[in-house]
Amino acid sequence: MVKAIATPNIALVKYWGKKDGQNMLPMNNSISLTLDEQLKCIADAEFADEQDEFVVNGKPANADAYRVLEYVRKTFDTKKYFKIISDTYFPVAGGLASSAAGFAAIAFSIAKLLGEEEGIELTITEISMIARMGSGSACRSVLGGAVEWLAGNSDETSYAVQLVPFEEIGLVDVIGILSHEEKKISSRAGMQQTVKTSKLYLERMKTVGKRLDIVRKALKEGDYETVLIEAMKDSDNMHACMMDTKPPLSYLNEKSLETIKRVNMLNEREGRIVCGYTFDAGPNAHIITESKNAAEAEKLFAGIADEIIVSEIGKGPRKIL
Ligand code: DP6
Repeated sequence: MVKAIATPNIALVKYWGKKDGQNMLPMNNSISLTLDEQLKCIADAEFADEQDEFVVNGKPANADAYRVLEYVRKTFDTKKYFKIISDTYFPVAGGLASSAAGFAAIAFSIAKLLGEEEGIELTITEISMIARMGSGSACRSVLGGAVEWLAGNSDETSYAVQLVPFEEIGLVDVIGILSHEEKKISSRAGMQQTVKTSKLYLERMKTVGKRLDIVRKALKEGDYETVLIEAMKDSDNMHACMMDTKPPLSYLNEKSLETIKRVNMLNEREGRIVCGYTFDAGPNAHIITESKNAAEAEKLFAGIADEIIVSEIGKGPRKIL
């Protein structure tokens, strides 16, 4: 049996839309920071006798999860069945990219099992592709540091690469838990509607390439003001596209909007960009800032966050057994 741990990631330039749902190919590249092990998923993988068995957080897994195992057999030429047990150990109930951490841990544990027991050694690129088949954003969580998912145009060309290793990034993600509610519309269903119905999304597609270039360069150079400015713009733009979807999608709540206001006020008062906010498909706020400003960022959540997690940049998955 193999046990592996993986963590979520927070996107600075977002993935919101697929050009191929079957192969899980995104419309655009995306860039994220992998988070540390305060938010973690652990997956156990072993071979099963006659059929796959898959349990996620104590419940039978859905079809997407089984599809990952089919993909592994087809792609890496093995007839093995798998028994997978995956659990999320977040200090909060959902809403924080648990599927990204989960499928990264699952992909990593399967890869290590195939290597140890069958002599089938998979590269990190192949592990990223397995994770992608479970949940797109999971393909970025197989690497630590700052990571880019290359959209590609086929199964073998869509995977994540590392841009900057974790120890070279001086940023933290100060996460404010503003709601414990599960989202009503999944990312998968929501993004499909956006691609289908939003005119603003067409504009996003014209500009996202430029933003990726800016953020990639700024991360490599340690130009964090630029990273934060672009991360805020990209989050705003994705949430505007969500609102432009028919019927409109809105994942933010009053407290999320209050966080945006407070971040802007702080930056204005200081006359420079100290903090940058970003939101995925949910109300919980991620404030990205340089490590030295973490306490300042925490203060912004006074009276509105139920819980605050200060996550450093993560190293990516590892085998723990
Ligand atoms: C808003 O990866 O959860 O977090 O590929 O359909 O499983 P599927 O969607 P998912 O979508 C994540 C969207 C996002 C932005 C991001 O992480 O890039």
